[in-house]
Amino acid sequence: MVVYPRLLPIETVAFAFERLSSGVPEIDELLGGGIERGTTTIISGPSGSGKTTLGMQFIKEAAGRGERSVVYTFEESVEKLIERSQSVNIPVKQMLERGTLEIVRVEPLVHTAYSFADMVKRDVKQNGTKLVMVDSVSGYRLAVRGVELEAHLHGLCRYLNNIGVTVLIPVEMKKITGDLQIAEENISYLADNVILLRYIEVRGELRRAIVFSRRGWGTLRKRCASSRLLDTV
Ligand SMILES: Nc1ncnc2c1ncn2[C@@H]1O[C@H](COP(=O)(O)OP(=O)(O)OP(=O)(O)O)[C@@H](O)[C@H]1O
Ligand SMILES: [Mg+2]
Repeated sequence: MVVYPRLLPIETVAFAFERLSSGVPEIDELLGGGIERGTTTIISGPSGSGKTTLGMQFIKEAAGRGERSVVYTFEESVEKLIERSQSVNIPVKQMLERGTLEIVRVEPLVHTAYSFADMVKRDVKQNGTKLVMVDSVSGYRLAVRGVELEAHLHGLCRYLNNIGVTVLIPVEMKKITGDLQIAEENISYLADNVILLRYIEVRGELRRAIVFSRRGWGTLRKRCASSRLLDTV
């Protein structure tokens, strides 16, 4: 019998305030230099818009600094993630060999929120992991079986943030274009940052756009209502 206690964000560790670069100058400019260490960032967008890839881009930069990251992939196979990342010049194989990256395939139905949190905590403690990506929230939802998703995710993210670990959470948005919408509005309060990937129609042409808000979803929605925040990269 294994007992997994609820993960409570009561432990804190001092860490330096710094911004983590995406390695893409235009995106860094949009992010005001990058995302802050020890924060939670939601990367939201429709399927195939590049959420995982953008997360991997931050992980690539972390690996360049010698920092270890772990990707918990609930949906995509490890092979597919490697192949897709390699195809956009993210040297995942090299990172895996050097130990700056670990990819863990998580089957949500064999985990609970408690056992998953325990697995993440153990890894961070044992291996000094600095960046964690939970890809994606839909898979995590299955692991919690619809019970207290917000509370479990809040506990996990805040625990990690308090000890200086940066968290990235891709969230799938159902709509392809049109009004701004986030699939999981109820989890948006968790985020210190929201990066929204979306498609916009410009004179009949579908273009990729990226929107950023540092203060979370409420602000993002208000700012986007003015539609001036859209920057294409
Ligand atoms: N900026 C980019 N330039 C070129 N190709 C890209 C870019 N971003 C992503 N891709 C490619 O687009 C495909 C989809 O990207 P990705 O898997 O990151 O999307 P996603 O939003 O995570 O999708 P899903 O919702 O299915 O998880 C991949 O093959 C990836 O290599
Ligand atoms: Mg993805």
